[in-house]
Amino acid sequence: MPRIVTLTLNPTVDKSTTAGQIIPDQKLRCTPPKFEPGGGGINVSRALKRLATDSVAVFPVGGPSGLLLRQLLSAEEIEQCPIETEGWTRENFIVVDTSTGQQYRFGMPGAELRPGEQQQVIRVLQELTELPEFLVISGSLPPGVEPDFLVQVARAAKKLGVKVVVDTSGPALLALLAEGVYLAKPNVGELSKMTGVEELDSEAVAGAARQLVENGKCEIVVVSMGPQGACVVAANHADYIPAPSVKKRSTVGAGDSMVAGLVYGLVSGRSLRETARFGVACGTAATMNPGTELFKKADVDKLYQWLLHTMPAQV
Ligand SMILES: Nc1ncnc2c1ncn2[C@@H]1O[C@H](COP(=O)(O)OP(=O)(O)OP(=O)(O)O)[C@@H](O)[C@H]1O
Ligand SMILES: [Mg+2]
Repeated sequence: MPRIVTLTLNPTVDKSTTAGQIIPDQKLRCTPPKFEPGGGGINVSRALKRLATDSVAVFPVGGPSGLLLRQLLSAEEIEQCPIETEGWTRENFIVVDTSTGQQYRFGMPGAELRPGEQQQVIRVLQELTELPEFLVISGSLPPGVEPDFLVQVARAAKKLGVKVVVDTSGPALLALLAEGVYLAKPNVGELSKMTGVEELDSEAVAGAARQLVENGKCEIVVVSMGPQGACVVAANHADYIPAPSVKKRSTVGAGDSMVAGLVYGLVSGRSLRETARFGVACGTAATMNPGTELFKKADVDKLYQWLLHTMPAQV
């Protein structure tokens, strides 16, 4: 049994294409679409697979799009625990305007997850044959799900000694932090919304992160700062890791790749210093690929070695 379970309450099939020029009213000729599985936890599972690490993806799924999602995940050999739902799995749409290179991302809200289906999610998590070491809760909430549902999930996991890793935003993130989790990965925008400060400079980021740890909201906080890298704080640990400068093609999936790198580091027993660098290496490696593509393992290895040997720890 894999030691990592990911939970994606609002999964998607991402449909990507390109068009010559995006203009209103006219028919736009698009290139053949590419279909990929998506949603926070599902992407974490896919990224872990690239690191030769198995996980179980737990997610609600419904309709023909849901069937496609399952097939796409099977093709990537991701172990799945789907919960059948009445509502159809959403399909997000990504289109690149090749005349400008600009990418347009259309995100759908997702179908409602009904109360009985939510209870089924909890049941599936409780009935896993073996307890995982980590439960990664990642992505947005579909309609019908209150933040308190995630709190119930996190509380049940913690009671069993499972370490909860969280990458979500808004009221869901606030509720989970109030409950207390093992690791949280807000980006700077998510952190600043929590603190109520609009523009956080790197010193303020470290201060706000330290507050989260001191107030018992999480044991480890990794604040991702896009091209500026990440700030990592835990009890007796503070570290800033600048992102290596690379030729950026698309930042889609950078956050999910980073979470996968962090969980991989922890599950393989690396120090927090190494784990944080591995997370940044995965995030940055993901930006080197176009569209919704995640990272290449060879890029991660190169960036990790560079970060490990070039960047001293700053405490
Ligand atoms: N332009 C960039 N150049 C280099 N590295 C980057 C860049 N953008 C993101 N990264 C890497 O990816 C990590 C996560 O990125 P970011 O802070 O943008 O996460 P996020 O906002 O949660 O992303 P997502 O949109 O996927 O949710 C960063 O810490 C960094 O290592
Ligand atoms: Mg994110």
